Amino acid sequence: MRVLSGIQPTGRFHWGNYFGAIRQYIDLQHGNEAYYFIADLHALTTVREPERLRQNVVDAALDLLALGLDPAKAVLFRQSDVPEVSELCWLLMTGTPMGLLERCHAYKDKKEKGLAADAGLFTYPVLMSADILAYDADIVPVGADQVQHIEVCRDLAGAFNHHFAETFVLPKAKTLDASAKVPGTDGEKMSKSYNNTIELFEEPKAMRKKIMRITTDARPMEEPKEPEGDHLYQLYSLFASDAQREEMAALYRRGGFGYGEIKKALADVAEAYFAEARAKRAELAADPARVEQILADGAEKARKKASATLKRAQRNCGLK
Ligand code: ADP
Ligand code: TRP
Repeated sequence: MRVLSGIQPTGRFHWGNYFGAIRQYIDLQHGNEAYYFIADLHALTTVREPERLRQNVVDAALDLLALGLDPAKAVLFRQSDVPEVSELCWLLMTGTPMGLLERCHAYKDKKEKGLAADAGLFTYPVLMSADILAYDADIVPVGADQVQHIEVCRDLAGAFNHHFAETFVLPKAKTLDASAKVPGTDGEKMSKSYNNTIELFEEPKAMRKKIMRITTDARPMEEPKEPEGDHLYQLYSLFASDAQREEMAALYRRGGFGYGEIKKALADVAEAYFAEARAKRAELAADPARVEQILADGAEKARKKASATLKRAQRNCGLK
């Protein structure tokens, strides 16, 4: 199967991004032909500071490589390094009904809130469709919020194939494990927009500080507590071995502990969990030319594939 996904470089990745998405992408590089890109063109709809965007792209590449994305197994590249995709986007745009995009939630939500939307946000799903179709992707692993966009992609591809000739492969969304929804430091879903994140490669000291500030209830120490549904326990479970998790659940049910103790245990397991990736990240960060080379090699492979698809589409619609 050909697997493809993109992730926006809108800030440093956090625990939610890792357990909810990145870890699952990395698993899929085994046994599939995998393409992963850093969606800088999409990020441009929100990150409007050039230096920050550039830095975010480098950070995203470092994080992904440190976490185990293997350039020998998967093609890793920058979205904007493949201009064929933007051209393909236009071909698709000419056949995209306005109503289809008006129903897409990113645009719709903004409009309902009375906020001004730009054409970049409005046509975002068409660019995403071009991303997917350019590489003849069969499977697109995404979070539940992106499934609608894959439906748009299938519609646009189907319409193009029907109107002209068979050109595009219709992709399938692979919804990432929803049970992997990671709570933030306030117990709500961890998200950059809620300011409740713990970043993957935060300095250990700063990370501990954030962990110590995770909200907890005011029940007395002695009281036994149900671990299921407790966000501190949920966070601990992400990192703990089965034995550690069971031990922690038993401690909750027994009562007689302070949340400070649990937070300390969480900081310990989280630090150990990412220790190897942290070391690898530092090693890669010290060699920026190597990371650039990985992205350049990825772009070359990706362009080869995308330009073949673009040629096919151009021919079929009468441009060539
Ligand atoms: P954020 O909400 O911080 O802006 P993004 O929307 O950029 O994060 O998410 C990128 C990917 O990470 C998506 O696939 C999304 O489903 C996943 N993700 C983000 N936050 C969480 C979370 N708290 N739990 C599980 N997955 C998450
Ligand atoms: N829109 C996706 C997100 O916000 C990122 C993305 C861009 C993407 N192009 C893609 C994901 C193509 C899958 C396939 O998460």
